[in-house]
Amino acid sequence: MDTEDGADSGSSSGGNMTTNMKEEYGLFVWPCSVILAEYVWQQRLQFSGVSVLELGAGTCLPGLVAAKLGLDVTLTDDSNKLEVLDNMRRVCDLNQLNCKVLGLTWGVWDESIFTLKPKLILGADVLYDASGKLLLLLWFRSL
Ligand SMILES: C[S@@+](CC[C@H](N)C(=O)[O-])C[C@H]1O[C@@H](n2cnc3c(N)ncnc32)[C@H](O)[C@@H]1O
Repeated sequence: MDTEDGADSGSSSGGNMTTNMKEEYGLFVWPCSVILAEYVWQQRLQFSGVSVLELGAGTCLPGLVAAKLGLDVTLTDDSNKLEVLDNMRRVCDLNQLNCKVLGLTWGVWDESIFTLKPKLILGADVLYDASGKLLLLLWFRSL
């Protein structure tokens, strides 16, 4: 199905149900993030006291669980995705969590990442396309 904004979309109609996926990827809770959030919870003793950076966090479930555990969490997503970043801030407020929220685009050189020094880097469903995967790997190599 075409959309006005030209974004990727998929829709289906069956009976009286219609779905539409033209929104930002970062505004969905993807299944990987549920699994990663569960992993963070299960490993909570091992992760105790560490600082956490979540990349491509979107709705940021793993980071939120880490913050609920009392860890120092920085949530990041593409700097151009203002709606996604705003949503992160709102979700943190709703959950009374004091996470830092940063625009951080893979492959873009940004001095601020060197001050973060995370002990744990989380990423759920961030290797879903080839160009993003390449950018992320090259960027990691440069750190
Ligand atoms: C499939 S979604 C996964 C979102 C979330 N981690 C989850 O699992 O629910 C991919 C996420 O990566 C982000 N992303 C894509 N390309 C990016 C880039 N070049 N730099 C930073 N984030 C990016 C998207 O905005 C989106 O939030």
